[in-house]
Amino acid sequence: MHNFLESKPSKKLYIETLGCAMNVRDSEHLIAELREKENYSLTEDVKEADLILINTCSVREKPENKLFSEIGAFEKIKKKGAKIGVCGCTASALGEKILKKAKNVDFVLGARNISKISQVIHQPKAVEVALDYDDSLYMFSKNVNSNFKALLNISIGCDKHCAYCIVPHTRGKEISIPLDLLLKEASKLASSGVKELLLLGQNVNNYGARFSVPHPKIDFTQLLSELSKIEGIERIRFTSPHPLHMDDAFLEEFAKNPKVCKSIHIPLQSGSTKILKSMKRGYSKEWYLNRIDYLKKLLPDVGISTDIIVGFVGESEEDFMESMSVLEYVRFDTLYSFIYSPRPFTPASTWEEGKVPKEIAKQRLQRLQDLHKKILTENSQAELGKVHKILIENNKQSEIETFSEGRSDTNRLVKIEDKFFNLGEFVDIKVTHVRNATLYGSPC
Ligand code: 5AD
Ligand code: SF4
Repeated sequence: MHNFLESKPSKKLYIETLGCAMNVRDSEHLIAELREKENYSLTEDVKEADLILINTCSVREKPENKLFSEIGAFEKIKKKGAKIGVCGCTASALGEKILKKAKNVDFVLGARNISKISQVIHQPKAVEVALDYDDSLYMFSKNVNSNFKALLNISIGCDKHCAYCIVPHTRGKEISIPLDLLLKEASKLASSGVKELLLLGQNVNNYGARFSVPHPKIDFTQLLSELSKIEGIERIRFTSPHPLHMDDAFLEEFAKNPKVCKSIHIPLQSGSTKILKSMKRGYSKEWYLNRIDYLKKLLPDVGISTDIIVGFVGESEEDFMESMSVLEYVRFDTLYSFIYSPRPFTPASTWEEGKVPKEIAKQRLQRLQDLHKKILTENSQAELGKVHKILIENNKQSEIETFSEGRSDTNRLVKIEDKFFNLGEFVDIKVTHVRNATLYGSPC
């Protein structure tokens, strides 16, 4: 029998995702919900979209400014009758103000309210931004695009209230997702062919601190051990952990569990204990370096990435030089560096004394990035001759080059020239040469 529902042409969804991995995950949820419940399919052409979603970031001012220029640009080219929805962190932070400033926006959906997407598209001028809304038990529709790598939220929100950070005001208080839901979801992903999980949370290693239902006591170290028992899951990554919660037991599990990838993001923010204190990070430079030393003792070849903010209120040249010296000491593989950007709702945005002039902050950023470039080049040279197990992610062919590429356990991108492999295949590669930050190798 012919099913008329199935043959009904789908509506088109265009989605723009700004910001972090958490937003990428939220966009996957938005797409899955709209496909499953509202018969939408994705388009990359905004002109043919019936619904345009902008999933926003508000961690710094720049992406927030971009939002309003983007809305204006979409308005000019969109199809007649197409709706525009603003989702994510800026939606949470600005709420109703978005509707006032951009009259062509149809609804505003905060980062904590993503599961309400199929309701708000039918509510003209809806503003759903409640920070106490609990998405932690919600079962989102399945993302049919998932292949051999998948993102898995293990907690929502953040309780840390670092003095510069808007996230606790856009994503609300921290709630962990119950273990049984995570195990069920991870097993489902494994049976659909997923080999690598990226666990997501603002503060992953604070997992288990609060659930919204009665729950047996558990921490992140135990969660890693439980998830790694799932057959088919061969690699587990996570982001972001907080240096404060890196106890010995966690670092030891990280080091010895063969399924846990040997790369870790350890956000430093500043190398100066004085600045860390005013940032309310809860640790000192000494604690940070103590954790790095222990980690490197357990795993000398571990890959470490970090976040550093320059030009925070009160940062002197000496404070900045402490960030430089930690960079030099740890020799991070990847550095995400930012100029401090005052954000609404945050304590630091009201501090007048000790503001760092923009020009000085820019110079510091440049000096930090130059030092990192030098370190990265040296780190890459030290990779020559090493053998890495690569999970193949891409086969690319262009006029300039043909190659297969994937990531090592330590999260380095490795290219294999003039060869194609199956996506999702593990291949042992010996590093033969290095160009900028990219390693090149051949199968061994
Ligand atoms: N200004 C600059 N960088 C910030 N980050 C968070 N808030 C701010 C801000 N107000 C950076 C931190 C964080 C990363 C995701 O963004 O380094 O770890
Ligand atoms: Fe922001 Fe600090 Fe929470 Fe990270 S830990 S999301 S920097 S408040």
